Amino acid sequence: MSPTRITGTGSAAPRNVVTNQDLEKIMDTNDEWITQRTGIKSRHIALPGEKFSDFAVPAARQAMALAGIDAADLDMIICGTLTPDTRMPSGGCCVQALLDADRAFAFDVCAACSGFVYGLSIADRELRFRPDQQILVVGGDVVSHHVDWRDRATAVLFGDGVGAAVLTGAGETGHRLLSVELGSNGKLGELLNIRGIGSAAPVTAKDYDPDDNYIRMQGREIFKHAIKNMVEISYRAMKNAGIEPEQITKIIPHQANLRIIEMLAKQFRVPMERVFVNIQSYGNTSAGTIPIALDEAARGGFLEPGDMVLLTVFGGGLTWGAAVIEWE
Ligand code: ACO
Repeated sequence: MSPTRITGTGSAAPRNVVTNQDLEKIMDTNDEWITQRTGIKSRHIALPGEKFSDFAVPAARQAMALAGIDAADLDMIICGTLTPDTRMPSGGCCVQALLDADRAFAFDVCAACSGFVYGLSIADRELRFRPDQQILVVGGDVVSHHVDWRDRATAVLFGDGVGAAVLTGAGETGHRLLSVELGSNGKLGELLNIRGIGSAAPVTAKDYDPDDNYIRMQGREIFKHAIKNMVEISYRAMKNAGIEPEQITKIIPHQANLRIIEMLAKQFRVPMERVFVNIQSYGNTSAGTIPIALDEAARGGFLEPGDMVLLTVFGGGLTWGAAVIEWE
């Protein structure tokens, strides 16, 4: 069976950068607290009118350029996002139209921060069935539109950005996706939610509360579940890839909190210099963290031929996932 390969990556984020010092001016917070508790120094925040496809399309174009394919070659577009331009058409269909990817079919995966890794899993399964396809997996969010700037406990954490990757089972070049594993627990969904944009609390309801449009998170609880589940799913991904934990040479973790990242590095006995971290300049871009980090790690030379790379992610739902890639 021909392996699934990642043949190109790309990423894009809003130009507007908001520093911790900028936040100090609009809420009761400070750079020291944010840096010590999270590792974040600044984040990209969309300006009014900027939307998911403004970043998804350039990220997709970069990934396709690296993969050496055109939009017309795409068979499928999967968008992992909570924040498509519109609820209907989907983010995937918006991206398809803007790229002129007329041969593809497109859809969204709603798995919060785990959306990109969920997309990788769907693409991998599809490629086992028909390896000659070209699949674009996009992950990212303009999550700032759901940030309550009065809630310092969540507002300082998030930023906007989108990443993308092209996957195929055709050809001999590209980085081999050895395994992808997913998990979720809907019973704990209340720990991290946006209540107000579904059918349970429609905007047309008489008692609609605009505050329900914001992300609410029980940070401490999420912290514990994030570590436990990312560790477990990562071991499962390594096992199914047929490798021992000692063989992992680089980690690309979800960028939600530097303390979580450091705990993961310790658990897997990988020194921090071999763990990719860009949280300081992006914050948590939700489904964007993994593909943006993957793209920057690839382009910046952090990933080298022969690396055995672990991706691991956790997000609302609750959802989580991990993947192992052999870098070529
Ligand atoms: N500035 C200053 N003080 C603050 C701020 C802030 N921005 N936010 C909270 N505080 C205060 C609190 O009010 C509290 O004060 P008190 O002790 O007087 O009551 C104190 O700081 C400690 O607050 P905690 O919430 O207990 O702080 P904690 O150390 O748990 O850090 C954090 C909070 C950073 C949110 C952490 O819990 C965390 O990272 N959780 C995990 C987040 C995560 O992994 N999310 C992943 C999924 S995201 C997705 O899917 C979209």
